[in-house]
Amino acid sequence: MINEDLRQSDIPSLDIIQDFQLIENQPSHVAIIMDGNGRWAMNKNLPRIDGHKAGIAAIFPLIDVIINSNIEHLTLYAFSTENWNRPKSEVDGLMGLLEEAIMKETDSVHEKNIKINYIGNTKRLSPNLQKLINNSLEITQSNTGLTCNIALDYGGREEIIQAIKNIIDDNIKSVDINETLINQYLYTANIPDPDLIIRTAGEQRTSNFLPWQSVYSEYFSTEILWPDFKPNDLLKAVQSYSTRKRKYGKL
Ligand code: IPE
Ligand code: IPE
Ligand code: MG
Repeated sequence: MINEDLRQSDIPSLDIIQDFQLIENQPSHVAIIMDGNGRWAMNKNLPRIDGHKAGIAAIFPLIDVIINSNIEHLTLYAFSTENWNRPKSEVDGLMGLLEEAIMKETDSVHEKNIKINYIGNTKRLSPNLQKLINNSLEITQSNTGLTCNIALDYGGREEIIQAIKNIIDDNIKSVDINETLINQYLYTANIPDPDLIIRTAGEQRTSNFLPWQSVYSEYFSTEILWPDFKPNDLLKAVQSYSTRKRKYGKL
């Protein structure tokens, strides 16, 4: 169970909010590969599931800062198509935590005017999780603040395969295939490409995350394990982003 006390402070420090507001060129879309829950738990001699619990709890203080920044879209990589290959006990535990988080947090997310969205093949998830997902989509669909995309059972290659299948099933002619059309067939239709992709726990790979959408994203990798990633660490990533020159192949 996610204890109430796992929810860290609900009120972000004013300093952090002010520091964010001072940053020019903030990314409009931040995507995060939340990695290192298992190592965090192992370092503390705890079961891996405790790392996932702490990982879910780490999300909320960040959201409270993000809703006070210029960031309009947040995408969180919660479970990949390859994560099904983990031991069943870990997958079941993780799915249980996700169910609990959606059940307990949807109302407070809704109160913050956040629109929830899911990207991935949600059909493979348990009927109860699918029900909770649909409920959270319904409750938050008209919200106009931050859009929070949860990548759940998401795989970039699978996303492209399903797009190709649907394009063929819709009898689209090859002459009509272009970037705009493909964008419309991805899970991320109507979501702008991520400006900044953060990966925690020091790995330098994308692990099947947004391959089509990330071609011009800026990457930021940090050694910090996801449960330890705090608003101040997000600030550092955004500060790094703000100093970069995005060239898109031009001079
Ligand atoms: C990220 O933490 C969460 C998921 C992939 C679901 P990990 O569970 O991958 O943690 P490490 O990489 O084993 O430390
Ligand atoms: C990527 O982390 C997936 C998520 C964070 C949900 P993994 O831990 O699954 O990635 P690999 O296996 O180290 O590449
Ligand atoms: Mg990992």
